[in-house]
Amino acid sequence: MKNIAVIGSGTMGNGIAHVFAQYGYEVALIDINQQSLEKALATIGKNMDRQVSKGTLSEDDKNAAISRIKSFTNLAEGVANADLVVEAATENISIKLELFRQLDELCKPETILSTNTSSISITKIGAVTKRPDKVIGMHFMNPVPVMKLVEVIRGYATSDEVTSLTMELSRKLEKVPVEVNDYPGFVANRILMPMINEAIYTLYEGVAGIEEIDTVMKLGMAHPMGPLQLADFIGLDVCLSILRVLHDGFGNPKYAPCPLLVNMVEAGYKGAKTGEGFYKYT
Ligand code: CAA
Repeated sequence: MKNIAVIGSGTMGNGIAHVFAQYGYEVALIDINQQSLEKALATIGKNMDRQVSKGTLSEDDKNAAISRIKSFTNLAEGVANADLVVEAATENISIKLELFRQLDELCKPETILSTNTSSISITKIGAVTKRPDKVIGMHFMNPVPVMKLVEVIRGYATSDEVTSLTMELSRKLEKVPVEVNDYPGFVANRILMPMINEAIYTLYEGVAGIEEIDTVMKLGMAHPMGPLQLADFIGLDVCLSILRVLHDGFGNPKYAPCPLLVNMVEAGYKGAKTGEGFYKYT
């Protein structure tokens, strides 16, 4: 595998493009919005500069990596040579299903179509294509250049061969892949989101304040960030939508989103990206 197409140049897309380019792959970064592409390339440059100043990447390797990333606003041109597509577009089921229908038409028959979805069913995405055996989840964690995990999610029809190629590819990026089956929230978010939701309930019920809750989890459980800060970092709208997938998928009231989370999202307090969630960001 040599040519990787990454769809979506937001936080996850630019991190994924960064890592593939850093490890020698040719990357086509695709977004409908030219401005987003420019912003993503600037972010990749800045994050690689961080690695250069830490001594984990040389200036020459950084320049070579950046030269391996080409940006496209046209989907057909961007995916024309792809051996693997990693879709990291908006977490919206109808957008993703339409995109995979198009990818199935536009890509070479042997291209693997992967998605970085955090909770949408891989089986459902695979079913809109004529190659469900070649559709797989590659769930990277944010910030992608730092976090070691790739949750590799097998849909109902994903083949053994495609699964092992994806596991192998993740190791080439110096990540640690973990193979999981396709059920709501997979593993990462099935465990993470109830913890975040419980932290929000703890605040909502007045048991403790925001900083107190985060401090308990940071210093008491050695989490790098408290759950409320992490929720801000992930996006409160994303947390809400994943909790709804868990709630609908299992039909179990234990996944019902806290009313405070629902209110905050409805009021536009979506976390770091909107300037305010549980904390304020300038
Ligand atoms: N690109 C490259 N390097 C980066 C970076 C980026 N975007 N962001 C941070 N770094 C590097 C820094 O340069 C630093 O490197 P060194 O260790 O070599 O010094 C290191 O990462 C740590 O960064 P900082 O010192 O700036 O900050 P920190 O110690 O507070 O760590 C953090 C930041 C890594 C984000 C840490 O707070 C953390 O691990 N937070 C939790 C992250 C997490 O849980 N992510 C999963 C979210 S859930 C998800 O993504 C999936 C989903 O479906 C919702």
